[in-house]
Amino acid sequence: METEIIKISDTSETEKIKKAADILAHGGLVAFPTETVYGLGADATDAEAAKKIYAAKGRPSDNPLIIHVADPEDAEKYAVTNECYYRLAKAFMPGPLTVILPKKDTIPSSVTGGLDSVAVRCPAHPIANAIIRESGTAIAAPSANISGSPSPTCGDHVIHDMRGRIDMIVDGGESEIGLESTIIKLDGNRATLLRPGAITCDALTCVCESVEISSAVTEELSKNEKPLSPGMKYRHYAPTAPLVLLDGDEDLVIDFLRRAQNAEHCTILCYDEELDHLRYERLIPIGARNNLEAQSARLFSALREADTLDGDIIYAHLPKKEGLGLALYNRMIRAAAHTIKKV
Ligand code: TXA
Ligand code: MG
Repeated sequence: METEIIKISDTSETEKIKKAADILAHGGLVAFPTETVYGLGADATDAEAAKKIYAAKGRPSDNPLIIHVADPEDAEKYAVTNECYYRLAKAFMPGPLTVILPKKDTIPSSVTGGLDSVAVRCPAHPIANAIIRESGTAIAAPSANISGSPSPTCGDHVIHDMRGRIDMIVDGGESEIGLESTIIKLDGNRATLLRPGAITCDALTCVCESVEISSAVTEELSKNEKPLSPGMKYRHYAPTAPLVLLDGDEDLVIDFLRRAQNAEHCTILCYDEELDHLRYERLIPIGARNNLEAQSARLFSALREADTLDGDIIYAHLPKKEGLGLALYNRMIRAAAHTIKKV
């Protein structure tokens, strides 16, 4: 399949936005930028169109898709909302929050992996929002990567993974946040956090009566455990070389990394401050130590870059679990298949 690649810099490019929306409205696949990561969109009300997403990504069919709407109220057509949903919408939408609600019949069960719930998100990225609005429907969109590789945070990542597999790629530059949306499941006013993201637990606690963190956010699932979110059982963001996360005092970690650079063929994801202390060889800076926003924006790109280097092993810091750190922790322990080394 020939994939049309177009660059859109802002929403004044109405002809291009119309073209992308038209492909979606007619059952095609379009990848587009969002503030979290790039999404691979299809009409969420069209079972055949949604099926093409699974084929293009190589995604297991029991892993449900998030549906994207232009305004929070549009959720009414597809899900059973409640008062807490609207309080969350007022506080965080449009933005990087996905809410799981009981589904209505307008969404085919193939989109939700056979579940009777549906995940709803209203993205803030102006190009994503304009394309969804113009399409006149809800857009099912997982991250626009091949299943198992890091989510794409720029047009080139999507071109690398999806060229030849989908109708169109809209390149709108780099995703600002760089990690996928926060996902919560609502039970009245009570929320369960299924995937941490830029909307933190503390922020959610200001709106919901309680926020429980699902154990799958930080722990490894035991063999026969059924996760609340099917996506949690699949290995994600897996670099080709094994990734090992280092847990210890700053000085001890630096000492360990220095010795590792002499003893083995390693790739290192380091903090900017550490660049002066390590040899400049397979060394990938991911942002300043205390700048979690920068680290989030860089992480997936850094993992992709690590894959292009010929290191036998990749070392990175184990993030702290506070605030946005919980999202970094969650993505990194999964990329590392829970391999943590105490130093
Ligand atoms: O930021 C994001 O959320 C991006 C952009 C494109 O919006 N999308 C994204 O989609 O990350 P995806 O498919 O890569 O991740 C969606 C996750 C999966 O782990 C899936 O299992 C879970 O959401 N999910 C979707 N619907 C669900 C449901 N009804 N119940 C439980 N989990 C659900
Ligand atoms: Mg994904």
